[in-house]
Amino acid sequence: MPGNFETRSQEINSLKESVREYVKTSELFGEDEFFRTLHQTPLVEKPAQESSDKKARLDALYGKYAECKNCPLGNTRNKIVFGMGVLNPDVLFVGEGPGFEEDRKGLPFVGRAGELLDKIMASINLSREKSVYIANIVKCHPMKNPDRPDLRGNDRPPEPSEMAACLPILEEQIDILDPKFICTLGSVSTKALLKTEDGISRIRGRLFEYVSLSHKKIQVLPTYHPAALLRNPELKRDVWEDMKLLQNLISQTL
Ligand code: URA
Repeated sequence: MPGNFETRSQEINSLKESVREYVKTSELFGEDEFFRTLHQTPLVEKPAQESSDKKARLDALYGKYAECKNCPLGNTRNKIVFGMGVLNPDVLFVGEGPGFEEDRKGLPFVGRAGELLDKIMASINLSREKSVYIANIVKCHPMKNPDRPDLRGNDRPPEPSEMAACLPILEEQIDILDPKFICTLGSVSTKALLKTEDGISRIRGRLFEYVSLSHKKIQVLPTYHPAALLRNPELKRDVWEDMKLLQNLISQTL
């Protein structure tokens, strides 16, 4: 019967879709494969409009904190990791703090988690060269053992006092950059920016409001930290959902 046949083929199609989804999220694919496979969305790129005013303000902010010793992290860092990206970002991604690689290079997210972040961004056609800015809550490397800056795996999350000392820099950066959206990566940055105690698995994928120093309201989308995805690839499915939402929001602003 035609009715039955249609129902059956709908069922088969939906089954195929589920299998495709499963394969995408399964550990058969490495983390890089996962986000590359999902690179299926149309390009939504805008030329970065250089703003000399923004650049001057950011440069001045950098100058003000280049030798910062407002917390003990300033005594052990190799390089301050101020941030990088475009001056008119669609999205400001916010991590927690520099790790070993970042401390050496002076750039955010340049280790394994950073490679994955690049792929996550690329899956919705975002990149640090063209459309985003990347910064952290703290600008200097928090270490478990500050006497061994030469050791890998010596990273730790920033202390509340370190975050409190450093947050004014990020607040200024947000004010200057005026991003269309903010995406906090992981619970540390989400809690610090949104002043919430809720865990990341509870609030990821939902939109919150951040009010900038000049009283501008900016929507914030918390998602998992890429380092969490390296430990637990199951979380990639949720991050992909969050990225689709982000891309949708950006496209509504074009
Ligand atoms: N993790 C972060 O939160 N920030 C970085 O810059 C690198 C790793």
